[in-house]
Amino acid sequence: MLEELNEKYSIPGRLEFVRGKEDFILAELRNPHSRCTVSLYGAHVLSFKPEGREDILWMSGFSFFEKGKPIRGGIPVCWPWFGAHTSDNAMPSHGFARISRWNVKSASNDDGVTELVLSLKNTDVNPGKFKVEPFELKLAVRCGKTLEVELLTENNGMENFIVSEALHSYFSVSDIGRVSISGLDGAAYIDTVNGLHASKVQSGDVRFDSEVDRIYSKSVCDCIISDSGSARRIKVSKTGSRTTVIWNPWIAKAARMPDFGNEEYRSMVCVETANAGTDKVSIPPGRNHGMKTVISCEYD
Ligand code: BG6
Repeated sequence: MLEELNEKYSIPGRLEFVRGKEDFILAELRNPHSRCTVSLYGAHVLSFKPEGREDILWMSGFSFFEKGKPIRGGIPVCWPWFGAHTSDNAMPSHGFARISRWNVKSASNDDGVTELVLSLKNTDVNPGKFKVEPFELKLAVRCGKTLEVELLTENNGMENFIVSEALHSYFSVSDIGRVSISGLDGAAYIDTVNGLHASKVQSGDVRFDSEVDRIYSKSVCDCIISDSGSARRIKVSKTGSRTTVIWNPWIAKAARMPDFGNEEYRSMVCVETANAGTDKVSIPPGRNHGMKTVISCEYD
């Protein structure tokens, strides 16, 4: 498997497939600008390091690397539903894309950008478990001066395909108490902490001193994560996305999660590029829909 992948898609000095934890197959992308690691399970970006710098993405030290369970950290692909399934509680949280094994579609290197494209089709997922119309989902990871992650849904069926989705990016921060996020001032959001769905409006930057779980709808602006404990600002730009989700589980929720260390909430924040809630997308037969996040970093 690994040999075949390398034979077909590896690019000397730029892209190769290796075995990671629990034998998960990983693609390692590297070029003069940055390095990036992608797991074929989940089409999950695990790491993005600009050359000579620390990782911008956060990974839990307690993550499962186990078939059927999602990876905690990096950039999980939530699809074709975001959060809990609307009618069946037995369905996995955030859909099945992040717990499916994806296939490699292409790999290339051009002009300082190394690209890997992965694909998931309806025939690749367990049809008894998940009833879905014919689709192809593609995830392109482009590693260069920035990290671009683009999710493309193609509806190959005969009916409208309704999708909610997120590129559920976990970012590494020095300490959550020193973080502020700009770009959402004045945006309406649903506050889902404690299972409530309270409608609120953001005033100023987002700061953290308790659990935050917010779905900002009709939000298309860039977000900047400022962190006074580090010399960097992370910019999250996006296209094809009308929802931004901001999440930090804080103390009690972190303690309830088996794959999340009790103190780890201090070193992460999620800024998710999404289409969820009232922003979910309806894709007509034969059409497609793309959503992209672009992650970059500025240093003092
Ligand atoms: C966020 C949700 O997107 O994902 C939170 O807003 C949720 O409510 C979090 O807790 C993590 O979800 P999961 O399924 O990966 O534990």
